[in-house]
Amino acid sequence: MGIASVREGERSIVGGEFPFTDRDFKQIAAMLYADAGLALPESKATLVYSRLAKRLRALGLESFRQYCTLVSEAEGAGERRNMLAALTTNVTRFFREPHHFEHLKAEVLPRLLQSARRSGRVRLWSAGCSTGQEPYSIALTVLSLMPDAAEFDVKILATDIDPNVLTAARRGTYSQTEVSPIPAELARRWMIPREGGALEVGEAMRELVAFRELNLIGAWPMKGRFDAIFCRNVVIYFDEPTQHRMWGRFRGLLQPGGRLYVGHSERVTDDGFRTAGLTTYALAGGRA
Ligand SMILES: C[S@@+](CC[C@H](N)C(=O)[O-])C[C@H]1O[C@@H](n2cnc3c(N)ncnc32)[C@H](O)[C@@H]1O
Repeated sequence: MGIASVREGERSIVGGEFPFTDRDFKQIAAMLYADAGLALPESKATLVYSRLAKRLRALGLESFRQYCTLVSEAEGAGERRNMLAALTTNVTRFFREPHHFEHLKAEVLPRLLQSARRSGRVRLWSAGCSTGQEPYSIALTVLSLMPDAAEFDVKILATDIDPNVLTAARRGTYSQTEVSPIPAELARRWMIPREGGALEVGEAMRELVAFRELNLIGAWPMKGRFDAIFCRNVVIYFDEPTQHRMWGRFRGLLQPGGRLYVGHSERVTDDGFRTAGLTTYALAGGRA
């Protein structure tokens, strides 16, 4: 490396309490990409600084250089997970992008739930489920059509890379503001009132959903295929080649007649899919 590039690498890119250089940013971005497939453009440097400054303070470190050294070493593996959690976006809502749940209810579930009553197997997947609002919205949609669904072979797999969000999801208690998008009738029937207008998911919802830690860019242990996959507002943080690979992997795990729901700003680039509604995809050549 020449003197000019060393100077370039050592330039502080965000002013503040802790020195934070180009080199630190690039190293953090490379780790995030390697661990989770997340692409971090340099325009996010201020965000990285503000989210990780808290970690530096908590650990009593003096610079991002020290932090990078820590998270690069084997002893820093736990902190590396904290870094990943601090840098991922977990924003979610009940019934976010409601047209997907309307589509699921009207076009996909009636046939599947009929088959479940005749001993069929129904599998739905919320990939990148964050704090649980998405899989629980799927569960409420299932219960709205089939109140006794938990007695049949109907399962919603909910996965995320971040164990902290999964802990919150398993707890399943949401504030009054968080539950406001849930139709009142569904909330009354399937959730349990808690202090201050909060609601906790009831037993029937819990029985339908299984939470598991899973890194989407790693190996997937699931063997069976899914009737619907929700992967919304997750791949948007991946670079294009990683997104493209993801679509192909979802294709391989979708039942004929299955549906893939993606986020409002995401587009499926895999030729094996065709559009089946707004940000809704079906296997090309599959039945409608
Ligand atoms: C913005 S939230 C989306 C939540 C929900 N799907 C929705 O649309 O409301 C993105 C979630 O993706 C998870 N995530 C990011 N990278 C991941 C990866 N490589 N594997 C699995 N989950 C990942 C994050 O931890 C976060 O909980």
